[in-house]
Formats: sequence, structure tokens, C-alpha cells
Amino acid sequence: MNMKTVCILGGSGFVGRHLAEILAARGLDVRIPTRLRERAKADLILLPTVELVFADIHDPQALRHLVTGCDAVINLVGVLHNRRGNGFARNHVELPGKVAAACRDAGVSRLLHMSALGADASGPSEYLKSKHLGEEAARKAAAHGVAVTVFRPSVIFGPGDSFLSLFAGLARLFPILPLGGASARFQPVYVEDVARAFADSLTLPATFGRTYELCGPTQYTLRELVAYVCRVIGVSRAIVPLPGPLAYLQALALEILPGSLMTRDNLASMSKPNVCGCAFPPEFGFAPTALESVAPAYLADRRSRARYDGFRCRAGR
Ligand SMILES: NC(=O)c1ccc[n+]([C@@H]2O[C@H](COP(=O)([O-])OP(=O)(O)OC[C@H]3O[C@@H](n4cnc5c(N)ncnc54)[C@H](OP(=O)(O)O)[C@@H]3O)[C@@H](O)[C@H]2O)c1
Repeated sequence: MNMKTVCILGGSGFVGRHLAEILAARGLDVRIPTRLRERAKADLILLPTVELVFADIHDPQALRHLVTGCDAVINLVGVLHNRRGNGFARNHVELPGKVAAACRDAGVSRLLHMSALGADASGPSEYLKSKHLGEEAARKAAAHGVAVTVFRPSVIFGPGDSFLSLFAGLARLFPILPLGGASARFQPVYVEDVARAFADSLTLPATFGRTYELCGPTQYTLRELVAYVCRVIGVSRAIVPLPGPLAYLQALALEILPGSLMTRDNLASMSKPNVCGCAFPPEFGFAPTALESVAPAYLADRRSRARYDGFRCRAGR
């Protein structure tokens, strides 16, 4: 498959920026639509083969226009919170359907779709249920000759993440960390590994039509991860696991406060272990990166611009 131009929907986000950098380094032309050019400007505009386009990707006509002439489309669009009650349906379910139709109409033959580990029709949260429906919508493109690959990562870490960096920010601010879902299990995967799997998959026929779970080498509880973050940034904090009802009330309170640090739906997602049932897919030919070999460099660097990315992202900027 000849690969020259790739459109990344959601390419201005955390994963998208890392992926765009890899694709640009491989000499591909990358088209990235955004609702807010400022959000993506700093990192992406500097990449020579990346074109940032102001576009409404929910408009089918605009979407078809956007993907026309592309050899592949990568859909990374996702939201963690169900804003105005329709964020999940609109972004996780309807949009993948529109993307599949746009690929069909514009003759794009390759589609990579970002889902999430635990996506399931009977999952414990609206987030996981909507991610499942999104996968189904994306796979429909296969009926029109589009080679579709779906990825389901666990929580993703790396410079600019809004997971470990968020806890580092909270641990710097507060002496006590009351933690809902403290025993929830995760198997965090490095953003560069996720981006590399996407980039490699574009032209790897063995991955066509497949669905991949992506996890790092180690499983942790949320409490272990927060304790690790505290150690790395050199603070001693009391981590207080909250029992179910208190965790629910905390999530409810955080849901109402500005910034949406956490919602009841996020808490519900955590009731299902976010860990992989198998090793990192051998098709990609590399082993996943250990969290401990990467996280200290960006968590401990308070001067790094990366620490602002999570705040920017939550502020919608
Ligand atoms: N980060 C993780 O730990 C993790 C784990 C598992 C799965 N995932 C999935 O991976 C994907 C990427 O995650 P991420 O962390 O990179 O997300 P992110 O940083 O929040 O980026 C989300 C991207 O989606 C676009 N977007 C969001 N809402 C949109 C809307 N209503 N209309 C159009 N575009 C919209 C944003 O574009 P603009 O704001 O520029 O328009 C942005 O580029 C998501 O599908 C997510 O569910 C992430």
C-alpha cells in the first residue's frame, strides 16, 4: 500500500501530536483538522509536512473534503466526559460512522480507529459502551473495501499526559490525597509505543482487519501509581483510599466543579480492570516501554512545558 498523505482526526491532542511527529519524520504529509488552531500551534505548526486545517469534522461534507486525496485516515477523537449529555454519542459513535462513510465516498482505503481498553457493549460506563459502538461503526467501512484496524490502549502515559501529570500536580498542591478507585488496576502504555504501533500499522498488512489491545509491561493499582508519582516528584503524601460511597460523592463533586477532573462515569469505568489479556502485539516487533524508564524525566521536570498541557487540555485551550 502506497502511503503519502494521512489525515489524523484528533491529531492536535496528546496522542495525535506524538503520532504526527513520527509520521512527519517518516516523510508523510499529515493533515490535521482542529477546532482551535491555537491549541495545536506550538508543536505541530513547526513540523514541516504537517498541515493544520480549521474544520468542523462533524459536518459530513467538510469531512469528505478533508479526507479526499488521503491514503489513510486515523481517527483519534475522543472525550472523557459526556458534556451536554451527548459528547459520547456524538464523538465516539456518530463520528466514526461519518468517518467510515467519508472514507468510502472519498475512496480512502485505510482507516485506523482509536478505541479504549475495556470497550464493551455491556461495559460498566457510558464511556466504554460508546467506545464499543464506535468500533462497530468504524468496522462498517470494511464492507466498502477499507482496511480497518482498531486499537484499544490502557491508560497512556508520556510527556503531556493528563494522568500521571495530573496526579503530580495534585500531589504538589495537597498534603492529603483522597483517592476514589484506589484499587482499580491499570497497565499504562507509553504514548510513543502507541504512536509507533499506529504508524507501523498503516502499511502492515498483517494488522488489516484486526483489533489490538495495547498495554505496557506492568500492571499497577491506581494507589501504587499515585504513590510512585509522589516518590518521583519527591513529596510525601498521605494517600487515603475512599470506600465506594465516598468515592461516588467525590466523583459527583468533581463532576460539578470546573475542570471536570473526574466524573461518576470515569469512576464506573475503573470498576473494570484496565489491563491486557495478552502480551504487546508481536506484529509490531518491539517491546513496550517501562513506565519507570520514562516517567521520572517528565514528571520531575517542573520547568517542562509538558506540565501545562494537561491544564490547557482541561481548559479546552
Ligand atoms: N489518553 C489516554 O490515556 C487514552 C487511553 C485510552 C484511549 N484513549 C483514546 O485515545 C484518543 C486520543 O486521546 P488523547 O489523550 O490524545 O485525547 P486529547 O488529548 O483530549 O485529544 C482529543 C482530540 O480530539 C479532538 N476533539 C475532542 N473533542 C472534539 C469534538 N467535539 N469535535 C472535534 N474534535 C474533537 C481534539 O481536537 P481539537 O480540540 O484540536 O479540535 C483533540 O485533538 C481518544 O479517542 C481517547 O478516548 C486515550
